[in-house]
Amino acid sequence: MSKLIDLRSDTVTRPSDAMRKAMFDAEVGDDVFGDDPTINHFQEYVADLLGKEAAMYMPSGTMTNQVGIAVHTTPGDEIYCEVGCHIRNFEGGAPAYLSGVMLNAIHGVRGAFTVEDVQPLLRSTDSHFPPSKLVWIENSANRAGGTIFPQNEVLRLRKFATENDLGMHLDGARIWNVAAAIGKTEAELVAPYDSVSVCFSKGLGCPVGSVLLGSKEFIAKAHRIRKRLGGGMRQAGILAAACLYALDNNRQLLPESNRHARMLAEAIAELPNLEIDLEAIQTNIIIFDALKLGMDGAAVTAKLREEGVLATGFGPKVRIVTHLDVNENDIQNAIAAIRKIFG
Ligand SMILES: Cc1ncc(COP(=O)(O)O)c(C=O)c1O
Repeated sequence: MSKLIDLRSDTVTRPSDAMRKAMFDAEVGDDVFGDDPTINHFQEYVADLLGKEAAMYMPSGTMTNQVGIAVHTTPGDEIYCEVGCHIRNFEGGAPAYLSGVMLNAIHGVRGAFTVEDVQPLLRSTDSHFPPSKLVWIENSANRAGGTIFPQNEVLRLRKFATENDLGMHLDGARIWNVAAAIGKTEAELVAPYDSVSVCFSKGLGCPVGSVLLGSKEFIAKAHRIRKRLGGGMRQAGILAAACLYALDNNRQLLPESNRHARMLAEAIAELPNLEIDLEAIQTNIIIFDALKLGMDGAAVTAKLREEGVLATGFGPKVRIVTHLDVNENDIQNAIAAIRKIFG
């Protein structure tokens, strides 16, 4: 069989030779002692790029999210989030396990919700209720198919959060793809939030790494929690060098990943046996189904695999994600495979 076209996730990318060279050349020290010059430079660089006071590097988006929750909350507190969000579905129950918090989930539209959705959920200070603490937004929303949270609603939620003494956190694992899609800077998109998590091992193509951002005070607290979770790393500059490389070289390629997703989505939309919501294709993630053919996600992905295309099935749906390691030719081949099976 010819080369597999792996569209399961944007996390499957492998570091390029140039990225590996940047890692090889990195100056390093012991970051637990604050001695790694590449980590120090990288953290300042990302804080500056995203317009926040401070930043801290960690091994994963799960860890940056969970450390963020732990800083914002005390056990028993309540967080308002969307029902499909990553912390609720894909982080092993960590908000309950690590921080003892309640997630009050909103059935939103394409991963987004409004002030009017949160308002009725807020608790009075009566001791029967969990204290209302944090508004949690994911942008883009992975499970909803890479959809973009409308920025005008983020600004309304910011005002509402401030008026009600709530914090606001962004899970911006793929904020880079959002910025590329709508021509706003990442700094503009993250400005309304008290804290932000961004990932480097997804669209940007790095092997490891996420960054938590916020005020100096917030990140100082986050340091202790990262330590408690065993997330302090030593010569981590070797990893941060890949992230610096990605910001300078891969970030500009993301419009291409988004365009590839659109190409695939439009080809899928032409096939009467497949269902896709074209309006929901806003970044690099596509969700579709073949329920008209009586095929669930597992059946579709099995068929696609036979034709050399890897996708992810979840329940009735199929997810395809475009990324730096697939080129236009791969996308055309994937489209040809989809047409062959479902056309
Ligand atoms: C929106 C979102 N947040 C957080 C994460 C967690 O990232 P990691 O796999 O690095 O823990 C993911 C992973 O896919 C994600 O899609």
